[in-house]
Amino acid sequence: MEIIIQPTQQAATEVAARIIARLLRDKPNAVLGLATGSTPLSLYQTLISMNLDWSRVTTFNLDEYIGLPREHPQSYHSFMWENLFQHVNIAKENVHIPDGNAADIPKTCQEYEDQIRAAGGIDLQVLGIGTDGHIGFNEPTSSLASRTRIKTLTQQTCKDNARFFGSEKDVPHHVITMGIGTIMEARQNLLLAFGPNKARAIAEAVEGPITSLNPASVLQMHPTVKVCLDEPAAGELKRADYYRWVYESKPAWQTF
Ligand code: PGA
Repeated sequence: MEIIIQPTQQAATEVAARIIARLLRDKPNAVLGLATGSTPLSLYQTLISMNLDWSRVTTFNLDEYIGLPREHPQSYHSFMWENLFQHVNIAKENVHIPDGNAADIPKTCQEYEDQIRAAGGIDLQVLGIGTDGHIGFNEPTSSLASRTRIKTLTQQTCKDNARFFGSEKDVPHHVITMGIGTIMEARQNLLLAFGPNKARAIAEAVEGPITSLNPASVLQMHPTVKVCLDEPAAGELKRADYYRWVYESKPAWQTF
């Protein structure tokens, strides 16, 4: 794991954006895994401002609420089109977001897995982290080998996401999410976290034992993970000075 601690959210976002921009320049037909929520918003704004060529890029989103109409302002379809896709030259047919309104949920989950495989697998997966350590919507105790499937949100996640819906009772309880096994097959994972309320989840994920109680901790088993943090999100890391030292000491060919 490469832990990149920056003074501000904006600075950490810019590092993440440069990592993605480099991928899109090196591999114009890259397959990106994308995330929703507050965390990637500034990343998407930065990527939009970079005027990258998205014409051959394929995307797969991590998750979607079940039963929310696609046009609902809080559906992840709406989120992605509003905050990224409508501002770049991506081809509509290259965008994939789980269908939370499918009549046959297990079938649509299997098809999503098949589509990822048919696209050649995910080159880079963007991840946020829940205050409980979830990645995608893989809540604590999710199987570390899980694939795309239905999950029930924890009450904590419903509380965390109530801010988007106006009230907790309006947050759907069920979601489709890529599994942890699916995420672990991405060639590269890029985890972003900002603010003090993510500090504990990040410390457990990076420095704690690998446990399904903090699903992000499984990323310790992935060969290529970068974690972009602002100072508050890094606030509970015991080895923060070492991670800063590593980043400052990078050879020029390794910098972003
Ligand atoms: P947030 O959510 O970016 O809105 O904090 C992160 C997550 O739940 O994965």
